[in-house]
Amino acid sequence: MSEPLLEMAGVTKSFGGNCVLSAIDLTLYPHEVHALVGENGAGKSTLMKILNGVYTMDSGSVRLGGTDLRITSPHDARKAGISMIFQEQILANDLTVAENIFLGMEPVRPSGLLDNRKLISDAQEVLKRHNFPIAATARVGNLTRAERQLVEIARALATAARIIVMDEPTAVLSQKESQELFRIIAELKAKGLAIVYISHRMEEIERLADRVTILRDGKRVFTGESNTIDAAGIIRQMVGRNIEELYPPLPEPAPEIVLEVRGLACRKTHGAEYRDISFDLHRGEILGFAGLVGAGRTDVARGIFGLDPPTAGSISLRGKPVAFSSTGEAIGAGIGYLTEDRKGVGILPDMSVTQNISIAALSSMSSGPVLNLAEETRRCGELINKLNIKARSSSMPIGRLSGGNQQKALLARWLFAGSSVLLLDEPTQGVDLGTRAEIYLLMREIVANGGSILMISSDLPELLGMSHRIAVMRRGELVAMLPAVGATQEQVMQHAA
Ligand SMILES: Nc1ncnc2c1ncn2[C@@H]1O[C@H](COP(=O)(O)OP(=O)(O)OP(=O)(O)O)[C@@H](O)[C@H]1O
Ligand SMILES: [Mg+2]
Repeated sequence: MSEPLLEMAGVTKSFGGNCVLSAIDLTLYPHEVHALVGENGAGKSTLMKILNGVYTMDSGSVRLGGTDLRITSPHDARKAGISMIFQEQILANDLTVAENIFLGMEPVRPSGLLDNRKLISDAQEVLKRHNFPIAATARVGNLTRAERQLVEIARALATAARIIVMDEPTAVLSQKESQELFRIIAELKAKGLAIVYISHRMEEIERLADRVTILRDGKRVFTGESNTIDAAGIIRQMVGRNIEELYPPLPEPAPEIVLEVRGLACRKTHGAEYRDISFDLHRGEILGFAGLVGAGRTDVARGIFGLDPPTAGSISLRGKPVAFSSTGEAIGAGIGYLTEDRKGVGILPDMSVTQNISIAALSSMSSGPVLNLAEETRRCGELINKLNIKARSSSMPIGRLSGGNQQKALLARWLFAGSSVLLLDEPTQGVDLGTRAEIYLLMREIVANGGSILMISSDLPELLGMSHRIAVMRRGELVAMLPAVGATQEQVMQHAA
């Protein structure tokens, strides 16, 4: 092998006395994709945030091209040719796409003033080179989550010279966009960059990684060539057990219709819109929603939940027409919505894990029984155990949990509220494999107990494995409804693309 590009040695980090990384070594070579894997909370993001100057390590060293490097801010990291696509999106919503891509390194004229024309044309160039269908002048706040992710990627690509860290970059991308990203990764690798790739998706690791490092509870338990370990071996090392069957068999749904949607439409001034959406959701059914990013799936869910009320059409819940103009009304009627936008509208970062879990039930119980605090804590504790939510204490702010653990706490919110119709938008996004299996078991339990689930997912195996039927949306329209049994990924993609 050639000379190492980067050497991290003995990296140790504690938060408030809690050791989350102990003496981690990581070496990166040019022309390599290095997968960094581990369960939720294992320390992957923290290690990479140290490399990117977001956190300072307590001890350890970083050497770049043979010389010691002190990185105290993300700006230092970018100057050293290191950039990162963060797991939680960090873009400024009020700025344009171009301004975000070059934030902190905007082109200036000789006079020292911002060269706006060059800013836009440089951004257009980056977007076009990577086939990202986004306008450089669009405001980031008006983009969908997946589009924002493409901007994050463009931002990292625009400045990365040597090392690029991707922290679950495909979590919000559809298959098509993920393929595009994989093509870009191959190009970067050929150019001699080193890529650190964090993902919970084994097929991505198998496809992309040259080497793999596995973290478990803040310790490095394996580093090696990817062809020396298979997916089962990786899972065993990170989880400490085998996972035999990911998708449990589902019980048959009842004929009774719980949610009836007819001719639903929404016209918006910006973003995706949808029209003429009609479907039934049965008692005990999991109805999958497939489609490319921007097809309008999230907008439909938001419409049903009263976040962006639809402009036409009707919704009936158990035979009664409903039109929610607020989420409180929807929650009160027994609907729960697990958002894909965890950071934007999902978590209340400064509130405790317990408060985040119980909050939806509180609003629906405002006229009901007085909340028993001990009971609240007990039931939350049960869910925290069941979903294996790793938190030092249930009273710590949820914003300090790892990404996957925040996701689990959001799911716990709707389980706590006991919603009978759950709209799950990318429910396993960023969740590790062991917990993913747990979530699927919970979904089965929910429908076996008479609940109904509408599941939006960009993960086709998950849609095929965990739905009774699959609705496919394309550009705001519902174009197909397939029984999941017997359907193939190719079939679904054909309808979606
Ligand atoms: N700012 C912080 N304050 C306190 N604890 C933190 C902070 N950031 C991370 N932690 C803790 O450090 C541990 C490792 O978190 P990290 O985000 O690195 O996990 P991860 O491997 O990236 O997990 P995931 O797959 O869920 O994203 C977790 O226990 C988390 O709660
Ligand atoms: Mg993480």
